Amino acid sequence: MQSVGIKGLGYYVPENIVTNFDLEKVVDTSDEWIRTRTGIEERRFAAEDEATSDLGYKAAIKAIENAKIDIQEIGLIIVATATADYLTQPTACLIQKKLGLSKIPCFDVGAACTGFIYALTVANSMIKTKLFKNILVIGAETLSRIADMKDRNTCVLFGDGAAAAVVGNVEEGYGILSVSIGAEGEDDMVLKIPAGGSKFPNNERTIENRENFLKMNGQEVFKFAVKVLPKVTLEALNQAEMKVDDLSMIFPHQANLRIIEAASKRIDFPLEKFYVNLNKYGNTSAASIGIALGEALEKGLIKKGDNIALTGFGGGLTYGSIVMKWAY
Ligand SMILES: CC(C)(COP(=O)(O)OP(=O)(O)OC[C@H]1O[C@@H](n2cnc3c(N)ncnc32)[C@H](O)[C@@H]1OP(=O)(O)O)[C@@H](O)C(=O)NCCC(=O)NCCS
Repeated sequence: MQSVGIKGLGYYVPENIVTNFDLEKVVDTSDEWIRTRTGIEERRFAAEDEATSDLGYKAAIKAIENAKIDIQEIGLIIVATATADYLTQPTACLIQKKLGLSKIPCFDVGAACTGFIYALTVANSMIKTKLFKNILVIGAETLSRIADMKDRNTCVLFGDGAAAAVVGNVEEGYGILSVSIGAEGEDDMVLKIPAGGSKFPNNERTIENRENFLKMNGQEVFKFAVKVLPKVTLEALNQAEMKVDDLSMIFPHQANLRIIEAASKRIDFPLEKFYVNLNKYGNTSAASIGIALGEALEKGLIKKGDNIALTGFGGGLTYGSIVMKWAY
């Protein structure tokens, strides 16, 4: 069976930098609290006229350029997002229009912060089964739009951004070596926007109670993340018949430095080999792993043949890990 992997990657973050000091002026928090509890120093917020599809489009253009393919060679667009432009229309369709592509199928994947991993998994299978040759996978978010700027428990954690990958056939033996994905379904308000969906459509009461914004039980999510990040990474490694020492780097979902530190201890893999940029961008949900990959590529930290793991976790609760041998 032919190997499938990432052929080109691009990312985009909005220009507007919001520091912890800026947030001190908005909610009862401090730079010191945010830095020591999370590792976050600043994040980007989209401009008023920028929506998730705009961020995703900019990342997509860069990914296509880097993949050195003709845009017409893309057969499918998959967008992983928790902050679609519209509730009913797939954001992938909006990006298709911006890219000037017509007729190709487009859909969104809803797996919260694990969305990029789930979308890559779907793309991998669809190329392996020869349904498509090149699939554009995008993780894009404008979490600033769903963060409650009156709730210090959540608003300090999130940021906006996008990443895109062109997925297709790569040199034999390179690309995606193994995938492990899973979920622990919950309906206890661990991590969700309570209202605005079919269960509780928005009304005066939900708006008054700010239930149209993201609510989170931080400690529950923390416990879950500390458990699944090491576990699912080891599962993917096991499937690839590899040990953690075979990896040159791990790209974890960028939620909290303490979660990454705990994972580093649990699997005995040095913290320096976990790529971390959450200090600059906060948690960008489905975009975070792709942005981290894009930055590492720019810095020359990934070379052809390097074994890396991408590991995500988040709302759902979902989790997943992909081990790959970098193909270019
Ligand atoms: C949110 C998180 C940083 C909170 O850290 P924590 O050490 O668990 O802190 P706690 O929730 O115990 O809160 C400690 C205190 O800080 C306060 N606090 C919460 N947010 C604060 C903020 N931004 N600034 C100042 N104080 C804050 C709390 O009100 C609480 O005060 P209290 O003791 O008087 O009640 C942490 O739980 C976390 O990162 N969880 C995972 C979140 C996540 O990654 N979500 C996305 C997953 S994809």
